[in-house]
Amino acid sequence: MYKGFLHTHVLVVTLFLLLYVIKTILLLSNRTDLLQKFSKMFRIPEMIISTLFLITGVYLSLQLPFGSKYDYLFWIKLVMVFASIPIAVIGFKKSNKILAALSLLLITGSYGLAEVYGKKKAIVAVDANAPTANDGVALYEANCKLCHGDNGKAMMAGAKDLSATTMDVAAMKEIILKGKTTMPPAPVNEEQAQMIAEYVNSGIKGK
Ligand code: HEC
Repeated sequence: MYKGFLHTHVLVVTLFLLLYVIKTILLLSNRTDLLQKFSKMFRIPEMIISTLFLITGVYLSLQLPFGSKYDYLFWIKLVMVFASIPIAVIGFKKSNKILAALSLLLITGSYGLAEVYGKKKAIVAVDANAPTANDGVALYEANCKLCHGDNGKAMMAGAKDLSATTMDVAAMKEIILKGKTTMPPAPVNEEQAQMIAEYVNSGIKGK
């Protein structure tokens, strides 16, 4: 499911960019007649592509494991994509070359950012799979920090203060894997859950 959305997203974004580049080139080179013909011809495909772009984009964003230090890249990308839309609409409507070029720049820029963001995420994910001494900390940051904070005291969304917990490693491992009421199970394996629990036990509990 996720893979399917991801491939569709990459495909429609590529098609979207292609349409965009062609339209911008036509506008910049004063081929207004051709531009109008082209826009008319691709009106329906463009609508379908934009809709799929949006749907798959929203779906993929909702699946993102937030809490990584690279998340700011994602927000910049989002702002760039959404800023480019009205700029493009006005640019093409008024045949304003500067606005059209600017919106193309924003949208290709965000495409580049998406690449960088994906790579950084992949690096984090690889780190999380290879056991090292710091794994407990990294896994905690990726999966728990959002609600419990760095020091366990954040208590976002009703989360318990982990510095004050009386649970032992085994009980924590259980709650990490299975979740409890509004705390979701973490997407980690047994070994990783053990490492997180050990880190909470030695690095956060009682501090
Ligand atoms: C979406 C927010 C959220 C995330 C993410 C989250 N927790 Fe929690 N956590 C909670 C909430 C809410 C509770 C209280 C649940 C209850 O008692 O009903 C809780 C309770 C706990 C408890 C029990 C503490 C006690 O003394 O009762 C532990 C231990 C714990 N979390 C550890 C973790 C660890 C480790 C992670 C990362 C793998 C994590 N949590 C991720 C929200 C979260």
